[in-house]
Amino acid sequence: MKSKDTNIEATSNNTDDQTGSADNAYQIGLDKLPDNLKQDLDNYLCLCNGVTRSEVIHAICEGADTFIKVRAKTYASAGNACCREEIEELLECLTAEEEESTKDS
Ligand code: FES
Repeated sequence: MKSKDTNIEATSNNTDDQTGSADNAYQIGLDKLPDNLKQDLDNYLCLCNGVTRSEVIHAICEGADTFIKVRAKTYASAGNACCREEIEELLECLTAEEEESTKDS
């Protein structure tokens, strides 16, 4: 039991930088979303699989840029896909602006 705790601590220390950049990407993603899509972040977007809106946004901000990738990373919509529309709406907002910003540069 003690060694398991030590492993968890060592793992979390190794990912501090990754966590920081992931949090930064998440914050940038939130700034891109319209107000109606960034409300109730801790509520379940996918009730069937218990995945929050925040977890889906994190996945998209960390590179899951298609519906299939979001589903693979979070399990959201892995059931009967009743939340697919909402995931695709988030994808459209978060990835469309990335494409626009790369065109400008
Ligand atoms: S709410 Fe996500 S699969 Fe049903």
